[in-house]
Amino acid sequence: MQEVDPVSEIYKGVGKDAPFFALVEEFYKRVENDTVLRPLYPEDLGPGKEALALFLIQRTGGRQTYSQQKGHPRMRGRHMPFKIGIIERNAWVHNMTEALDMVPELQAHKQTLKEFFESFATFMINQPD
Ligand code: HEM
Repeated sequence: MQEVDPVSEIYKGVGKDAPFFALVEEFYKRVENDTVLRPLYPEDLGPGKEALALFLIQRTGGRQTYSQQKGHPRMRGRHMPFKIGIIERNAWVHNMTEALDMVPELQAHKQTLKEFFESFATFMINQPD
């Protein structure tokens, strides 16, 4: 039997971009006030917000604008400039989990997204503690 990746089925159920942009807004609101994460991010948070929203839209099965603009995602490589240990990983997941709770259209997919974020964030770790 063919394995179906549940993450890539999410966009179909959501049906539009707006909830992903809303999720990213909620997440970045938290990053702005996070003493662990804020120093890792550049002063201008705008471009990163756009990139994260487009990446999530693409990864969940929506339009492929992220790769059209940036090429292959190679997320681990893109994160190498930032020191990501377990503390940073946990802060990222905590903020994203809170943000997820704020977006009604994503509640049906909450568990799948949460598991995706948790494992993807673990994969981004590039530093020992
Ligand atoms: C594990 C903790 C993580 C930390 C500390 C972290 C930190 C960062 C930072 C500092 C940037 C640069 C933002 C900018 O240049 O404006 C970034 C970019 C990005 N991150 Fe993360 N990140 C983490 C995990 C994740 C995860 C789990 C995902 C996806 C589910 C993700 C997706 C992205 C994307 C799509 C970008 C934009 C890359 C681009 O410029 O094309 N990150 N991240």
